Amino acid sequence: MRTEISFHLNDQPVRAQVEGAQLLLDLLRGPLGHTGVKEGCGQGECGACTVLVDGRAVNACLLPAAVADGRRVTTIEGLEGPHCTGGELSPVQRAFVERGGIQCGFCSPGMILSAHALLEARPSPTEAEIRAALGGNLCRCTGYVQILESVKRAVELRAEASR
Ligand code: FES
Ligand code: FES
Repeated sequence: MRTEISFHLNDQPVRAQVEGAQLLLDLLRGPLGHTGVKEGCGQGECGACTVLVDGRAVNACLLPAAVADGRRVTTIEGLEGPHCTGGELSPVQRAFVERGGIQCGFCSPGMILSAHALLEARPSPTEAEIRAALGGNLCRCTGYVQILESVKRAVELRAEASR
């Protein structure tokens, strides 16, 4: 059965017709064209499909699209927040570029969104908290040291932007 849902996608209001079993991942990548959301395992294990729903990092491959109804969904294409300036990379994105946290880039949208969600909640996380927040995001290029350094650099950049 098809139903119409409406929600905010990267701060823009959208309406979409969804099938009962349709996944948020397929809605975002398909009709809505947000291919920054990656499909990896399709089973909730790799984090490539991470998006923010009302600011929380979730796996879009596990969520029915209908769950988005009335919510605020953020993908890598629309990452912004109080520490971002329109049209520029967010501090977390800049940090990943600066510290080599991106290799092939397949995991990067999910990593960056998970890191962003963490830093919104915990602006100065411990290393253990960073590792825990990224625990659901796998990198096939095994660039974990650089990714960890990138998140630490993002903490600095966000603090500088707040001054
Ligand atoms: Fe969703 Fe791997 S594609 S967790
Ligand atoms: Fe290639 Fe992480 S940069 S999978």
